Amino acid sequence: MASHASAGTPATYDRIGTGYGQVRRPDPRLAALINKALSGARTVVNVGAGAGSYEPPDVEVTAVDPSQVMLDQHPGSRRVRAHAEDLPFRDGVFDAAMGVLTVHHWTDFRRGLREMRRVSRRQVVFTWDPAHRPELWLIDEYLPQIRELDLSRFPTLSEVVEAMGAHTVSSFPIPYDFTDGFQNAFWRRPEQYLESSVRHASSSLAELPADVVEPAMERLRADLDSGAWAEHHADLLARDSMDYGYRLLVADQSGAGRH
Ligand SMILES: C[S@@+](CC[C@H](N)C(=O)[O-])C[C@H]1O[C@@H](n2cnc3c(N)ncnc32)[C@H](O)[C@@H]1O
Repeated sequence: MASHASAGTPATYDRIGTGYGQVRRPDPRLAALINKALSGARTVVNVGAGAGSYEPPDVEVTAVDPSQVMLDQHPGSRRVRAHAEDLPFRDGVFDAAMGVLTVHHWTDFRRGLREMRRVSRRQVVFTWDPAHRPELWLIDEYLPQIRELDLSRFPTLSEVVEAMGAHTVSSFPIPYDFTDGFQNAFWRRPEQYLESSVRHASSSLAELPADVVEPAMERLRADLDSGAWAEHHADLLARDSMDYGYRLLVADQSGAGRH
């Protein structure tokens, strides 16, 4: 069984979390998918909440995050500094628990998911499948070092499905104009990766050393200027969305949220 490095200690987001909200703007299409999965819930705990992206409106949300830098960017009034692996709540106290692009940062994802199941009746998790192909061209052609980092921390989709007891897995192809600047968001807007603020808001890119990233970005800049990137990726430029392996998983012990 794969072991997953603890790349997501709170210190990571205390270090890289500043300015997160400017690049990681919640996308309405992903919000609609998550809201649908949480429909009917009146109390929700958002585990690894960060700045509060994708929390449904008109619901009582409790935000949990170990990083104070992230919690400080959260607009809500119920903010709890804690880890997924030890949620400081009574059994079954929430209608639902959500976790968006956070499971790969946990020291022990199985324990965190067990905790989500303990404190809530429905669990909704958005994550990325490291086995999915194709990979983003940025990794394949410019920064293969990301692959190793990602593989060391993202649990496989089947590991998460099993640990959650998920009954529904939905794909989320990324629209070409997706607003939440996570790693694969700019698959059709390559010039965005040249911006340090964009790289800073994506943990794998942010964690690679500058002497690896900078020469790769110089190469990308040259390929964009010469037209080589556009020529090589004419197929991508003709697409409106791409499936890069992002998945929404839902588990519901009561069966109420099944669809
Ligand atoms: C990529 S951010 C996602 C934030 C938010 N869910 C969103 O969609 O914008 C990952 C978050 O997981 C948090 N995190 C790291 N380790 C954690 C842990 N053990 N338990 C809960 N959250 C953790 C980080 O501090 C960070 O806020």
